[in-house]
Amino acid sequence: MKISARAQRVEPFYVMEMAKSAAAIAREAAGSDKPMIYLNIGEPDFTAPPLVQEAAEKAIRDGRTQYTQATGLPQLRERISHWYSERFGVQVPARRIVVTAGASAALQLACLALLDAGDEVLMPDPSYPCNRQFVSAAEGRAVLIPATEAERFQLTADKVQQAWGAHTRGVMLASPSNPTGTSIHPDELRRIHQVVAERGGVTLLDEIYLGLSYEETYGHSALGLDDQILSINSFSKYFNMTGWRLGWLVVPDSLVDTVEQMAQHLFICPSTIAQHAALACFEPESLAIYEARRAEFKARRDWFVPQLAALGLPVPVTPDGAFYAWADCSAACRKLLPASSEYNSEMQTAGSWEFAFELMKRAHLAVTPGRDFGRADTARYIRFSTANSLPQLEAAVERLRALLV
Ligand SMILES: Cc1ncc(COP(=O)(O)O)c(C=O)c1O
Repeated sequence: MKISARAQRVEPFYVMEMAKSAAAIAREAAGSDKPMIYLNIGEPDFTAPPLVQEAAEKAIRDGRTQYTQATGLPQLRERISHWYSERFGVQVPARRIVVTAGASAALQLACLALLDAGDEVLMPDPSYPCNRQFVSAAEGRAVLIPATEAERFQLTADKVQQAWGAHTRGVMLASPSNPTGTSIHPDELRRIHQVVAERGGVTLLDEIYLGLSYEETYGHSALGLDDQILSINSFSKYFNMTGWRLGWLVVPDSLVDTVEQMAQHLFICPSTIAQHAALACFEPESLAIYEARRAEFKARRDWFVPQLAALGLPVPVTPDGAFYAWADCSAACRKLLPASSEYNSEMQTAGSWEFAFELMKRAHLAVTPGRDFGRADTARYIRFSTANSLPQLEAAVERLRALLV
C-alpha cells in the first residue's frame, strides 16, 4: 500500500521504543528485589480527585453523554475563564476558549489553522517532540534552534530575530518546558513576542505545565501580555487527568470561528464525560487537592535535583515547574560506559541513549534519553521525571549511587 509522504515524514518516537524495552526488563525484574522504578513517565502519579471521579460517574448515570458543541460545554469554558482570572489575574473571555481532546488536539488545531505548506515555525532544541510532527502534518517545517543552559533551554528574542526568514510564520514555545521544566523569563517572552508581532507572525505558547509552577517569577500566563497570543493548555498535568483526553486552546477572537469550524469537522467534540467531570476540577475541594499535590511535586524537585548533582548528574538549570529534571550525564557516561565505545568520543553519538539502557539493565531504572527532544546536544542529557513518590525517588538515588559513586 502506498503510504503518504506526510506519514513517511513522521519520525520515530524513541521514548516509546525505550518504554517497550523497559516493559520487557520490568517483566524479568518483577519477582526480584529490584523491581523497575519508572522515572521516565511524563504524567502525574496522581489520579483525578474524588469529586471529579464522582462527576464522571454521575454524567454516565444521568445519560449526559451526547455530543457537545465542538468548542466544548459553555459552562466548562466559563469555569476555565474564571480560573484564569482567579489564579493568574488575566481576563480571558470564555468565547476565546476552545475545549479540545487534550493539548495534543489543541496543538493540531492551532497548526492546521495557521500554517500553509512551506511555512516555518521556530522552536527551541530541546523541545517537546510531537510539536515537530504537528507542524509537519500541517505541511509546515519545524526549525529547531539550539538553546543553551544560559538561555534556560528556551528561545531568546535575539535568536528569533536572527533566525527569522522569508518563510517564518511564528514561534512555538512551551513554558515551563518538557523536557527541561524551565520557563521563559517574562521579560524575554515579552521581547520574543514583540519580535514576532513586528514581523506579522504568531506566538504559540504551550502552557500545559503552567499550573505546576514553583517560582513566583515564572508562574504567569502569557495571555496577560497580548490577546493575540495562542495558548495551549490541558487537564492532563496540573489536573491529573492524562487519560481523560481533555485540554483547551485559547485563541484570538478573530480565530474563534475558524477553529470552531475545523474542530467540528475533525473531532465533532471532546469527550462529553470528561468535560462533565472537569467541571468538578474547579470546586474548592478539588483545587485544594491540586495545590497540595503541586506542593508535593515541588518538594520532590527540591530533594531530587541536589541528589542528582551529588551523583555526578548535574541539572544545569533548576526546573521552575513541571516534573522533569534535565540532567547532564556526560561525566556519568564516561564513568559507566566502556572506554572504547563510540559514545565516549565527545558524546557525538549514542551518549544518553546508551546510558539510559545501562540504567535500565543494571539498576532497573527507567529514564528518558535526550534523543527525542532535539538534535543539537541531546546525547548529553537525560530526562528524569519526578512524577513518582519520594520513597521511589529515594530508592532510585540509592541505585544510582551504587552504580556511579
Ligand atoms: C509540552 C507538552 N505539550 C503537550 C502535551 C500533550 O498533552 P495532552 O495529554 O494534553 O495531549 C504534553 C504531554 O506530555 C507535553 O509535555
